[in-house]
Amino acid sequence: MEIRVHRAPRIEADIRVPGDKSISHRSALLAALSDGICHLGNYLRGEDCLGTLRVLRQLGVVIEEKSDGIFAVRGCAGRFIATESDLDCGNSGTTMRLMAGLLAAQPFQSRLTGDDSLSRRPMRRIMEPLGLMGAKLRTEGQGDCPPLVIEGSVSLQGIEYRLPVASAQVKSCVLLAGLLARGRTTVVQPVATRDHTERMLEYFGVPVEREGERISVLGGNLPQARDFQVPGDISSAAFWLVAAAAQPGANVVVRDVGLNPTRTGLLGILLRMGARLREEELSRGPGEPLGKIEILGAPLRGTTIEGKEIPNVIDEIPVLAVAGALASGTTIIRDAGELRVKESDRLAVVAHHLTAMGAEVVETPDGMVIHGGRPLRGVRLSSHGDHRIAMAFAIAGLFAEGETVIEDTQCVETSYPGFAEQLRRMTHE
Ligand code: S3P
Repeated sequence: MEIRVHRAPRIEADIRVPGDKSISHRSALLAALSDGICHLGNYLRGEDCLGTLRVLRQLGVVIEEKSDGIFAVRGCAGRFIATESDLDCGNSGTTMRLMAGLLAAQPFQSRLTGDDSLSRRPMRRIMEPLGLMGAKLRTEGQGDCPPLVIEGSVSLQGIEYRLPVASAQVKSCVLLAGLLARGRTTVVQPVATRDHTERMLEYFGVPVEREGERISVLGGNLPQARDFQVPGDISSAAFWLVAAAAQPGANVVVRDVGLNPTRTGLLGILLRMGARLREEELSRGPGEPLGKIEILGAPLRGTTIEGKEIPNVIDEIPVLAVAGALASGTTIIRDAGELRVKESDRLAVVAHHLTAMGAEVVETPDGMVIHGGRPLRGVRLSSHGDHRIAMAFAIAGLFAEGETVIEDTQCVETSYPGFAEQLRRMTHE
């Protein structure tokens, strides 16, 4: 599949985006761990999150799709049923790493596999803490890459673990294992990462102690069955927010979108770059804050994105780099080495693609320097099988001379079914 894009006429839209990917995964996992039936509304029907449901079903969790699109998950109170088959996590690092936490505490062996991209992603980061808790894990791929074989143990021991990388997936993996372990499990993160697991555990009735970046749970406290409504995904909204921000006179409203402060870093960055925007929180929890974002385009200027801000915008860096190329002045991205082990090496691919479109970019080991403001030209670009690359460069194409063709865009389905239709509607094609 391909996405073809031309320069956008005036961008004006009032939209909703599909359910949040991170929150959808967690809602399914916590519902599966619960002791009753949970109805999940606005669950993301992207490949990644449907993959999590498929894996849970393989492990004996009964999940029914209702006529109104709601998923009813019948929890198994923390006890999965062994399966001989591989558990295919597709393209989804979150599925593999979070499931690993739960499977580490089961009295059986499981084998988790993934597609080519997931089979190149590092698993050492979860093998180490789960090993310390008493599970046995090994990888069958090159280096520390999947397939991942987990020999679970019903006598996991809680640990205190300092995350060597700022990763919400690793934090969540350890906390989920901690629920099924003996005693207290504490994770200490170097900087704040998305806190959906903590918030949703609390929503599902599990006490979570938080003291700065120290997060603890006590083993044996399982989620209680609750219904949950997934907010729209701000990482999906990010594409339209950047498109609107970069076009003076544009106006985009996104409704019912998640406004969790560990995910809204993009808004602060766009404000710094000169966009005008308004965030309005309509409901605050328990659970996840939700509201409306309105953005008005203006001439953008370059900025520096670094340090603590990086985990907050980890999935938005490709489209923020596009914003940097469209802005005047220099945009510097640093401390973002983690992007090299995402669905693709996002630093290398973004730097290459922006350069191919005519931007002036210097790739660095942990980021890039973009000298913005040069005119972009439409070219043919590969997605590298990475959904966020495909969508970020579709947005770049809205500002380029001539036609931009993004190849291999099937991957967009992992997080944003309906993206191409929304793009067409927005550009009146
Ligand atoms: C996610 C955490 C981030 C993010 C990914 C989803 C999550 O990954 O990039 O898209 O749901 O916990 P890391 O934890 O590896 O940074």
